[in-house]
Amino acid sequence: MAFNLYVRKAIKQFVFGGDILPTRFFIKQSNPQTEITVWLHGFGPPRDVTRCHAPASSVPCTFWIAFESSPGPNQNERTRLLLRFCENSGKKKMLGEIGLKWIKTIEVGKGEIQIFEPNSAANYCYPKFQIWTRSLLHTWRQQHSKASIKPSDLELRAMSVLFICPRPISLVSVQDDERANIFPLNIMSDLHDGYFAFALTAWKIPAMFLEHVRFFALSDTPIERGSTAFNLAINHNNFSIKWEELPFETKPSNTLGTPVPVFSPRIREMEIESVYRVGSHSIFIARTISDERLAEGPELSVVHGFYQAWRIRHGLDNISSIVEDANIRSGLSSNLSAFHRHL
Ligand SMILES: Cc1cc2nc3c(=O)[nH]c(=O)nc-3n(C[C@H](O)[C@H](O)[C@H](O)COP(=O)(O)O)c2cc1C
Repeated sequence: MAFNLYVRKAIKQFVFGGDILPTRFFIKQSNPQTEITVWLHGFGPPRDVTRCHAPASSVPCTFWIAFESSPGPNQNERTRLLLRFCENSGKKKMLGEIGLKWIKTIEVGKGEIQIFEPNSAANYCYPKFQIWTRSLLHTWRQQHSKASIKPSDLELRAMSVLFICPRPISLVSVQDDERANIFPLNIMSDLHDGYFAFALTAWKIPAMFLEHVRFFALSDTPIERGSTAFNLAINHNNFSIKWEELPFETKPSNTLGTPVPVFSPRIREMEIESVYRVGSHSIFIARTISDERLAEGPELSVVHGFYQAWRIRHGLDNISSIVEDANIRSGLSSNLSAFHRHL
């Protein structure tokens, strides 16, 4: 028995390079994160776009990059654009790259955001062979999943690169006279001049509700409240919630009076200026009304499992992060059965 386990572990190590972590892996991070820099190549000297880019939709896979002052890359320059994801410490190794195909430009204040699809994507968090075997496994899982929309190999690869950059998770609070909701959001980024962009599945309740109300509060999530935020994902499918039934205390936000969690270290209030449809998602452009920083400390973020395995191998995190991720998903405190479920 012990020998069988040993052989299985050795095969897993050789074929996949170790344990297969969830594609969406929850970690603690400072906000803004400082371990990855994202460089845009092909538009003058390499440009740091770490804090002004984000994934937009998963199918088709799209993402945006903000350009503070128009014009961004022109038609000619757009043909050679490349995003590179590099570690900030150590050898500043490049961990992934994506070739860009321009889709659309949206004007935002004095600047613009440009939306792209990938036309190539390479993830270097594992040796080539193990990236290939892992990608095969992901494709196999995808094909056997019940999801109606399935991303292509290129889209899966591009997503694995986009989530090398840790993405914070915040909570959106929204209400009008009849309804209310609070749900997690991680497809978002700051833009320029106090603008902010985020994306929601276009046909779901939160997107339609926000488009109607146009004002909301955005609360950062401290890592200790990771499972609380994860559990609120159910509200992406809820028509309305009752604030008094939430399992945590709320207080009114400063200007709008929208209930926000008292545990949040940073609360922003925003007004939506415009909404654009891109693939399966609506992209919202909002303007910040207020921004209150109440505490410091590690916050809830998400990365791809490929990158988390790299973080563990290179000492940026340790093996206990696998238990912490499992706890966030299960809502349990240290629990080994949850740990095994996600291996
Ligand atoms: C931590 C977290 C962050 C999420 N962020 C977003 C987001 O930014 N945009 C979005 O459209 N959905 C977001 N979702 C919602 C999920 O994509 C999904 O719709 C939700 O979990 C409900 O699952 P279901 O659609 O399979 O029922 C998020 C979910 C979780 C758990």
